[in-house]
Amino acid sequence: MDHGTVDQAPDILISKFEIEQRVAALAAEITRDYRGRTPHLVGILKGAWIFMADLVRHIDIEVTVDFLGITSYGPSPHSSGEVRITKDLDVSIEGREVLIVEDILDTGRTLRFLEEVLTVHKPHTLRVVTLLDKRSRRIVPVHADYVGFEISDVFVVGYGLDFNQKYRRLPDIHVLRQATSP
Ligand code: IMP
Ligand code: MG
Repeated sequence: MDHGTVDQAPDILISKFEIEQRVAALAAEITRDYRGRTPHLVGILKGAWIFMADLVRHIDIEVTVDFLGITSYGPSPHSSGEVRITKDLDVSIEGREVLIVEDILDTGRTLRFLEEVLTVHKPHTLRVVTLLDKRSRRIVPVHADYVGFEISDVFVVGYGLDFNQKYRRLPDIHVLRQATSP
């Protein structure tokens, strides 16, 4: 497999136009659901930063934002199950309407970890928006309240998502390889 070909011969799974439309639709749902309140968006670094930047610009109510940096490590570059915080939240989430902003749900281990960590700090509500959901890969039974696209068992890059820190800058979402299973 030649990872370099992604840049020149893109195998696009979801185009930037489809992403833009879906992100606007998600933002409209969030706007409607949180009308009269000020949700606190917690973006998960680094994968969700581009998605979050687009999402907040389509949300039509006041929001506050913060970021949580995490890293997964272990036998594979993704879905290892070992998650570590690399950047903590800056402000308290106690009593807040927290909305976790994730790039992709795979086995669900990362989200389970995030929910456990954030629940300790007593948010009033805790919901999840994820751009992508590989539901067929789930090991831990977590779910997102807002899902951009459900995708099959393929490894994707672009629009913030990486493989070994590469390809985050690509405007569309590309398939890097057909299966994430080892
Ligand atoms: P989980 O803990 O197995 O749900 O994995 C979630 C994390 O694995 C995501 O936040 C990504 O960092 C990474 N990941 C899973 N699948 C992909 C993929 O297809 N492309 C890029 N990163 C992925
Ligand atoms: Mg991630």
